[in-house]
Order: sequence, then structure tokens, then C-alpha cells
Amino acid sequence: MAVEVTPIEGVGAEISGLDLKSLSGADFDTLRTAFADHGLIFFRDQSISEEDHIAFAERWGEINVNRFFAAHPDYPQIAMVAKEPGDTDNIGGGWHTDHSYDHEPALGSVLVARVLPETGGDTMFASMYTAYETLPDDLKAEIEGKYAVHSGKHIFGEGPDTYYKQSDAGSGEDGSNRIGNAAVAATLEDPVHPIVITHPLSGKKALYVNPAFTRSVVGMDEAASKALLDKLYTHVFQGNAFHTRFKWQPGSIAMWDNRSTWHWALNDYQGQRRIMHRITIEGCALN
Ligand code: SIN
Repeated sequence: MAVEVTPIEGVGAEISGLDLKSLSGADFDTLRTAFADHGLIFFRDQSISEEDHIAFAERWGEINVNRFFAAHPDYPQIAMVAKEPGDTDNIGGGWHTDHSYDHEPALGSVLVARVLPETGGDTMFASMYTAYETLPDDLKAEIEGKYAVHSGKHIFGEGPDTYYKQSDAGSGEDGSNRIGNAAVAATLEDPVHPIVITHPLSGKKALYVNPAFTRSVVGMDEAASKALLDKLYTHVFQGNAFHTRFKWQPGSIAMWDNRSTWHWALNDYQGQRRIMHRITIEGCALN
């Protein structure tokens, strides 16, 4: 089988002609290049076990064991991204990039579809390379050299305003809550990252703020900071030309780069079950 990398309109590339269970060194090099270039790679018709999933992720780097998501009952490296028929909210149901609240944000995640709803449950992706490239020059100048504060406390922590209410975060297959460990969220030390990063793999510039975890722009008052972030988010929200909607099928796998993409799990399948297995790979400090 010859490996093919087919760019997708908007963002990403579909990889065909390989089996993730038996990747040669040359295949892996092709994937690494495609991942750096596109920030997002998709695979179809794969049949991989949890062990295969872990082995594939480990080829990219060290696995980040998620502090807040319920883990797979037998494989702590796998975070459960689950929604049961009785749950109303889902995990990741708004534009975001994972782990920007860490000092060394995760490289990316490998998401494997395990149980899919009959209808809905697609995932949206957006390219932060193109988001940056297509910013108007005056906005590029405005963010040049600026930094932003990121946090996960308001999402994973305790308190009336936290995004995931620990009391109604739903039940997983094994009866555990989908989101937990709120006390750890309170101990997070909020990092600052540049608003425009130079991507560690590709060397390209990417916009690095996101509506879920970016809290403020360093050195600006609250109103000015909000106004600037809103302008950047509006640019991405309206950037249909650099969005892709991924339709999951049995055997589908997506791997995204947290430094050069956003994603958003659509929550349009109430009353149905959707179970995804996610492994996140450690990254590095961003400059
Ligand atoms: C996530 O945000 O990690 C979940 C993405 C998805 O379930 O499609």
C-alpha cells in the first residue's frame, strides 16, 4: 500500500494507504511531515485496540495522563470523552485548544471513535496558521510581541462559575464522573504564552489564543483585553475558509496539533451515546 496524504479544504489532510498497527519508519516520517504541515491528520477504516492506540501515541512523545477527564477503566493513559443518552452537555462543546492552561501545552491528541451516535456528533476544526495569515495587517501589528494569560480553573475548578459543574458532569460507563479533580484545578499556576507563536515543528506563525482558556492580554486593562480577544475570536469564528467539519465513521481517527488548530465537538445528538478515546501527547514551551 502506498501512503497518500490528501489535503482537505479548510484545514487538515486525510491519510490513506496505511494501517496504524504496523507503521514502518518511513510511514511514520510521512505522518510527521503531514502533521507539521497541516496541523491535523485523519485516518479512516482503522481497527485498533486500546494497546495499539497507546503504542501509536507513544511514537510521538510522552503521554499526558489527563488530570480532569475520567480515565478508561483499564488504561489510565486514555481519557474518556463520553456522552451518555442522559447527559445534556458534552466535553469540548465550544471552540478551544487543549491544555493551553499548561506551561508546556500538549503537542496534540489522538482521538479514536468507539461508539458513535446515529446522527450528529461531528467535530469542527480551524487552522490557526491560516487564522494568523489572514488577519488584517493592523491587527497583526496590534498583537505583535503581546502575551496572554491562560487558565483552566474556571473550566475544571469548583465554584458557581466553573464550566463543568462537578455535580452534574455525568456518568461514564463505569459509573464515574466525566470530569473531576476540581481541587487540582485550583492549584494550577496560570501560564502566559505569546499571542503569536512560532510553531515548534513547522516554524510557521500561528495565532495562539482560544475562547475557552485564554483569560486576558498581559498589560491591558480588562475592557481593552476583552475587545482585542473578541476581535481575534470573531476573525476565527467567521473564518469558514479555514474550518473543516469532520464526520466520524466507525474506524475514524483524528490527530490534531493543539498549537496550530482549534476544535469544537458539536453537541447535536441529544439522547444518543458517543464514546471517544483520547490520548494527549506532551508538548513544549511556546515562543
Ligand atoms: C475534545 O475536545 O477533545 C473532544 C473532541 C470530540 O469529541 O470530537
